[in-house]
Amino acid sequence: MKENEIKALVDEAFLARERAYVPYSHFRVGAALLTKQGRVYHGCNIENASYTPTNCAERTAVFKAVYEGEREFAAIAIVSDSKNPTAPCGVCRQVLAEFCEADMPVICANRDGEYEIMTLSALIPMVFTKKDMEE
Ligand code: THU
Repeated sequence: MKENEIKALVDEAFLARERAYVPYSHFRVGAALLTKQGRVYHGCNIENASYTPTNCAERTAVFKAVYEGEREFAAIAIVSDSKNPTAPCGVCRQVLAEFCEADMPVICANRDGEYEIMTLSALIPMVFTKKDMEE
């Protein structure tokens, strides 16, 4: 990806972060998922009084996109309120691995828009997928 494309996707993640529903942690996360066709799906974290049902920003974005019929993704950018780059949690890595290719770039940005890029496979090596269910 070109630098301007990366920065544009990080900007979309900042917009998504505005929608965060975080009455418990007060920690906002936004994700912007880019399809191979060039559409962007936003996601935010949505918390719950029972804590466990909380949905991360990344999964909100993936589930919105998949519901709309999308199956092919080119990149995801994630941003939070932290000074550190926001890496997806383990559950979100697994969900991304269901739909995204191993070499897909995951752009982990901090609150100032500085970012690090990892491939999905670097974030979740030897991931369990449907190939592992073959007999
Ligand atoms: N969170 C995300 O939205 N994405 C991540 O990858 C890490 C954690 C959210 C969940 C919860 O609302 C808050 O951040 C604190 O864990």
